[in-house]
Amino acid sequence: MKEDLKDILLTEEEIQEICKHLGEQLTRDYKDKPLVCVGILKGSVMFMTDLIKRINTHLAIDFMDVSSYHGGTESTGEVQILKDLSASIENKDVLIIEDILETGTTLKSITELLRSRKVNSLEIVTLLDKPNRRKADIEAKYVGKKIPDEFVVGYGLDYAEHYRNLPYIGTLKPEIYNK
Ligand code: IMP
Ligand code: MG
Repeated sequence: MKEDLKDILLTEEEIQEICKHLGEQLTRDYKDKPLVCVGILKGSVMFMTDLIKRINTHLAIDFMDVSSYHGGTESTGEVQILKDLSASIENKDVLIIEDILETGTTLKSITELLRSRKVNSLEIVTLLDKPNRRKADIEAKYVGKKIPDEFVVGYGLDYAEHYRNLPYIGTLKPEIYNK
């Protein structure tokens, strides 16, 4: 699996360092608040488990799964809910946990939906951000690392469901796409 990678973008140590920094910031910002961390399946699972261990305050976790409708390679902007939250978020301080923010289409729809549920506050933490790809009017308050417009895999991120189990993040060799 490793041999399919062109470059490593974030090592295991760098990812842990990011989780530590974001965790300290989130601990300060959410102290004594009714925090609910919402992980977006499936890509955010690894980041979520490492990040929440670094948040030193009471919190609940929940998950959502959505699918974007893609016409070819571009997202059409519509998302379908495959799995909704298991509990009410009314009056809660909700933190969405994402693996990567690209066009923003997915998170734009999710934030609009969750905001309509009378939350106390709603913010986004994303491990990676590709700002050059943005189409929707949305930003994450907490960003692990900004990266250039390149397709990345590992640590939850997949290419056709492969590579999610790599403990670090990298780019794929071009020949992998043409297999
Ligand atoms: P957006 O709606 O365009 O922001 O799409 C975000 C979603 O696309 C992420 O949650 C990922 O599932 C997927 N995605 C975007 N860029 C990459 C990448 O470089 N590698 C793997 N998945 C990606
Ligand atoms: Mg995703």
